[in-house]
Amino acid sequence: KHPGSEPPLETVRPNPQDDEDGDRQQDGQDDDAGYAENETITLYLIDMQLIDGKAISELVKQEIAAEVADIVANGGKRPHLAAILVGHDGGSETYVAAKVKACEVCGFKSTLIRYEADVTEEELLAKVRELNEDADVDGFIVQLPLPKHISEQKVIETIDYRKDVDGFHPINVGRMSIGLPCYVSATPNGILELLKRYNIETQGKKCVVLGRSNIVGKPMASLMMQKAYPGDATVTVCHSRSKDLVKECQEADIIIAALGQPNFVKAEMVKEGAVIIDVGTTRVPDATKKSGFKLTGDVKFDEVAPKCSYITPVPGGVGPMTIVSLMKNTLLAGKTAIYQ
Ligand code: GUN
Repeated sequence: KHPGSEPPLETVRPNPQDDEDGDRQQDGQDDDAGYAENETITLYLIDMQLIDGKAISELVKQEIAAEVADIVANGGKRPHLAAILVGHDGGSETYVAAKVKACEVCGFKSTLIRYEADVTEEELLAKVRELNEDADVDGFIVQLPLPKHISEQKVIETIDYRKDVDGFHPINVGRMSIGLPCYVSATPNGILELLKRYNIETQGKKCVVLGRSNIVGKPMASLMMQKAYPGDATVTVCHSRSKDLVKECQEADIIIAALGQPNFVKAEMVKEGAVIIDVGTTRVPDATKKSGFKLTGDVKFDEVAPKCSYITPVPGGVGPMTIVSLMKNTLLAGKTAIYQ
């Protein structure tokens, strides 16, 4: 696949006056409604491929489960992930439940520690220190966001970087940015895995990252410029203060949208044959859904998809890979593959 390699094909609708017998049929073809007379329509002969994050994530979990079974059969320790969940945020509840479930599928031990939203910062930090010292716990996470009265940064920096399987600790972030072995944060790592599994070319490509969050945008940009595959791309980061965001997108071979703004990326912003990775997962109210909301990406999928060479759907694209990346980091932690 070479994004952008297919030129558009122009066709002209036949003139209805050529319909001599008046049956609205011409050369055996139906006169389809919806086009003006002699209107020029552009067909893009691009073979769009949907990136199936759900299927890849199932595959990776099976690979992990096989390795864990092997470790345990050889007398090794079953990897153990602990998760701290504060409060009852709907999104966080869903993600943590999915993480616990994924642990089960991978053959990991998991522990869920819950606090009400009014837990004090000191109480939370004490639990973090306890987990740092707990030899049975290989890695742990504190689900974000946290209530306003708790400093997320303080919590992250209290986690022992050797157990920081989210890859949020400054030591892991710093090591990642200079290409040293570390825990890479889950969403960017999941995206790299998708690019790899679909053999998507990245070397020398123009990659636009939309969003500059510490969890996705910044590490993603850093990884895409790394001397590696996937990587070796020319990276531009756009955000809420960017002036030429639309122009940057129009020139991009790869767009990674992580703004958290539903349907932000429109068809006119995308070059034919581009690769589109949609990180957005905003809950948009939808009365037709049982849950009352529709998980909505940052990309207007229906109009963008026909122009792409590859695109991730929402849901079923990046989301499932994020959880699998955490599982991969937990396996690395269990094996003490990165830190002793
Ligand atoms: N909140 C949103 N994404 C994440 C994540 O990857 N890890 C944690 N701990 N919290 C999150």
